[in-house]
Amino acid sequence: MSADILQSHSLIKITDEEFKNLVDFVYRKYGINLSRKRQLIEGRLSHTIRERGLNSFKQYLDLLTKDNSGEEMHNFLNRITTNHSYFAREMEHFDFLLRQALPYLEKNRPRDLRIWSAGCSAGQEAYNIAMVLDQYFGARKSQWDTRILATDISMNVLSKGQAAIYPEDNLKDLPPQWKEKYFTRLTGGSYQVIERLRKEVIFKVFNLMDTFTHKKPFDIIFCRNVMIYFDSETTSRLINKFYQATSEGGYLFIGHSEVLDKEATQYQFIRPAIYQKNQRR
Ligand SMILES: C[S@@+](CC[C@H](N)C(=O)[O-])C[C@H]1O[C@@H](n2cnc3c(N)ncnc32)[C@H](O)[C@@H]1O
Repeated sequence: MSADILQSHSLIKITDEEFKNLVDFVYRKYGINLSRKRQLIEGRLSHTIRERGLNSFKQYLDLLTKDNSGEEMHNFLNRITTNHSYFAREMEHFDFLLRQALPYLEKNRPRDLRIWSAGCSAGQEAYNIAMVLDQYFGARKSQWDTRILATDISMNVLSKGQAAIYPEDNLKDLPPQWKEKYFTRLTGGSYQVIERLRKEVIFKVFNLMDTFTHKKPFDIIFCRNVMIYFDSETTSRLINKFYQATSEGGYLFIGHSEVLDKEATQYQFIRPAIYQKNQRR
């Protein structure tokens, strides 16, 4: 191997000070705690730093903080966050939605439901919700406005969500009839969500650390496997914002590996990883 190739593959070491500054910056801006990810940072960013013609993490952090276009930040987030997701993840949630939440909400709502997949990755969760809505409403669906807002900080995953094309492996836990009904098989073997469902999901970039600016409250919020990045203080702050943004009787779904302090939250615990905002009496 030539010296050039060896150099382009070797890691750039991050100093203690650079590491602390980077960790603080990302925590302040995105709530993401990278304090135990030193190796991951060196491993995933050394190449990017060289590509930019830089040779230290300090220079890279300067570039990140001064980047007004947002492009460098997006690239950075794509490298350090894990966007792994798949259809029918924690299927109990979709079951609960179909059998309990939707019948309850239908009785108590005019003909529109506001739904948010927060930290949506490449859209699997949002399209999965759209499938459940289709199953539940059937022919009545046309009388309802149930479009789903799907947000993430990573532009990369959002554009994958818009394209709605997934490898077959990503669909393996879905009921076979759903795979049949809601996807088109493309040449090459991947699957695309059908257009009728694609139209139901609106993708937007949004940082959950920012102030929520929605006009109306949400009836259903999914924020699953996102808070794993956050420490307990950031999680509590976010849960409070979700609570303010939930309609009375509305639901919050979190990941099964995530915990919500039952004493600290105003949400009512329904079952593991499902919460509801009480109706005012
Ligand atoms: C592991 S994926 C979870 C996807 C999906 N909710 C699921 O359960 O399969 C976590 C997603 O959260 C996003 N994320 C992390 N921090 C975020 C923040 N501050 N604001 C918005 N999205 C964030 C990541 O970009 C990533 O796509």
